[in-house]
Amino acid sequence: MKMNKIVLLSALLITVTITTIGWISTLPAKGMYPMSEISNLDLMEAGLKINPEEIYNPNGVSITDALVKIRGCTGSFVSENGLILTNHHCGFGYVSDASTIENNYLKNGFLAKTYSDEIPATGNYCKITESYEDVSEMVLASIEGVEDPAEKVRLIKKTMLAIGKEASDEANNIEATVSEMFIGKTYILFRYRVIHDVRLVYVPPISIGNFGGETDNWVWPRHTGDFTFMRAYVAPDGSAAEYSLDNIPYTPKKHLKINPKGVNEGDFLFVLGYPGTTFRNRPAKYYEYRENYVLPYISKLYAWIINQIKELGKDNESVALELASRAKSLANTEKKYRGQLRGFNKLNLVKTKLAEEQELQKFIESDAELAEKYNGLFEKLNSAYTDLHNVATRDLWLGQIFWQSKFVKLSDDILQYSQQIQLDESKRKPEYKEDNLSKERESIISSVDNVNTELERRVLTKMISDARLFADNSRIDAVEEIGNISVDEYVLNLMDKDLLNPEKVKDILIKTPEELDELNSPLFYFAKELNAQRTIINEEVDRIDGTLNALLSQLIDIKRIRNKDSFVPDANSTLRLTYGYVKGYSPADAVYHSSQTSLAGIIEKNSLGLEDYDIPSKIRDLYEKKDFGQFYDENVKSVPVGILYNMDTTGGNSGSPVLNAYGELIGLNFDRAFGATINDYAWDDSFSRSIGVDIRYILWVAQKFSGADYLLQEMGVIN
Ligand code: ARG
Ligand code: ASP
Repeated sequence: MKMNKIVLLSALLITVTITTIGWISTLPAKGMYPMSEISNLDLMEAGLKINPEEIYNPNGVSITDALVKIRGCTGSFVSENGLILTNHHCGFGYVSDASTIENNYLKNGFLAKTYSDEIPATGNYCKITESYEDVSEMVLASIEGVEDPAEKVRLIKKTMLAIGKEASDEANNIEATVSEMFIGKTYILFRYRVIHDVRLVYVPPISIGNFGGETDNWVWPRHTGDFTFMRAYVAPDGSAAEYSLDNIPYTPKKHLKINPKGVNEGDFLFVLGYPGTTFRNRPAKYYEYRENYVLPYISKLYAWIINQIKELGKDNESVALELASRAKSLANTEKKYRGQLRGFNKLNLVKTKLAEEQELQKFIESDAELAEKYNGLFEKLNSAYTDLHNVATRDLWLGQIFWQSKFVKLSDDILQYSQQIQLDESKRKPEYKEDNLSKERESIISSVDNVNTELERRVLTKMISDARLFADNSRIDAVEEIGNISVDEYVLNLMDKDLLNPEKVKDILIKTPEELDELNSPLFYFAKELNAQRTIINEEVDRIDGTLNALLSQLIDIKRIRNKDSFVPDANSTLRLTYGYVKGYSPADAVYHSSQTSLAGIIEKNSLGLEDYDIPSKIRDLYEKKDFGQFYDENVKSVPVGILYNMDTTGGNSGSPVLNAYGELIGLNFDRAFGATINDYAWDDSFSRSIGVDIRYILWVAQKFSGADYLLQEMGVIN
């Protein structure tokens, strides 16, 4: 009955609107709820079949104890031996680092036969949320009586760091950080258990793990086997240690139970994970900033770099491999931003937000007390954001050049290093304290490997040429100084060959700032000039942020007074729960997409002959032999592959376990539909759909394709 209702309603939702079309008014799927909110949600009413305390229980063991934050992604423990399930795209960089042309794990996949075959994922780590505590009073006390907006921001940041540091307990592997939940309002101290030794256990070939490539990225219907298994290791005494052969698999407090029976349309689901950033509580003028500055600038620049990488890698496999991870992450952001720009336009988001704000303004004016307190709020917000718009061009360009030009980044790192080590240890930034210094040094030296000279030359030429065209009020000083020589010639001078040689970089790293000056390196000079301007812009942005801090805090107050309901903080990389249902939808006029894909669809796409749809021939053979094992599903008549649901997720939720009403793992979240990229700004049941890979496909690939029966045994799926 319930299922029919959902299907029928979904099919009727032909137009995409911004108004909430609640299909069951009491069950809003929207919301990334912090753990503190779980007890306020009627999850049982929504369809949960276990006690919510089994999900989150600060006084005992619960499902959240099985969750890990793994770099920018989420993962979960799926065995008592520290086995972690996360996405293929989350392990991508580690796999490509471990790959060579002879041993190309990225291309061919990788399966460790025994623990000792597992590959260290260098630089990887994971964190488990142990506890949290509201420290808002302490944070806000630090700015009492302070007037200067930039100083306020500085003090808040400083206090947050100090509280985190105080609560950290390195000896016991506890790293604590304070997260801002509501700007200028709510601050929570999170204690994380950190594990430093995380290894690769099983990675499917890229043709499975990234099936569909960029063509299918951010797209439903989807057939990507976006999964990877890793394992967490600790020292024999249980403490977190760096990679060492003596380390042993970590025993988590809790691991998830896998349910290989899958799900059906209409089933209740929930997701736990670490969503990164959303902007829903921001005002119209901020949306305008994103729509007019950030998204178009970044998406255009990235599209250009992606094309260069394609060209450079076309006939050169080792260059292609070297740049694969960078290209993939640029492509991911580029397409997401394109999707968001379309969403802004299609939903008329800025206008909709403005209309909401006009309503709020009327509400403020309707009450003398409110008017007294909040009148002028929107004018002040507008004026602060106008200041931000004014520095946007320079801020974005400077941010990107330190990121996209590996030479600028490297020389800036070297300059900073030489300045910091001159200082007394107590005055240095944390990464330059004696204990961390060798790590920082190693990371600078190893970043030499990231430089592809031809790409570097092209990026610098492009970005400097762009900057030369900026309007008068957005000049980049270092670029102005170039004078009359051509950009090509200028960039040739910047190409400092010494920075391509790790040995030379080692030598440079022992130089004092004065000795660095004596090198007369045009690149170092350029980086220094850029840094000087970046410092000025950063100060301006801090000043604006300081002003906004107080204003955005007032905006939340007035919205709370108006809406009376509980208010969900924007995503900020802290642990959240979201719930919803397996659910199809109508992304466009006369189009209806159902909620499940299957192996048959992989074969169908493969028959199109596109490179992105290549699959290992064994997949086709297994399909033709109908060798589906226990993972056959009557609905789809083969193995189910993708699942679509209306849960509220964002970047960082990748690798999040998708759990059924009993809290059993039935899938792995990894993406959203194109029209749902706009979720970061506005969620609506009519267009917001996230995408997971069905656990049955993961298990089928592991067992039938890779013969990884031992992993299925470890997870208790087979005996
Ligand atoms: N779009 C997904 C997320 O934002 C998956 C990205 C990885 N896949 C890719 N083809 N780039 O991260
Ligand atoms: N693919 C994203 C991630 O890496 C998830 C999303 O943006 O929906 O977290």
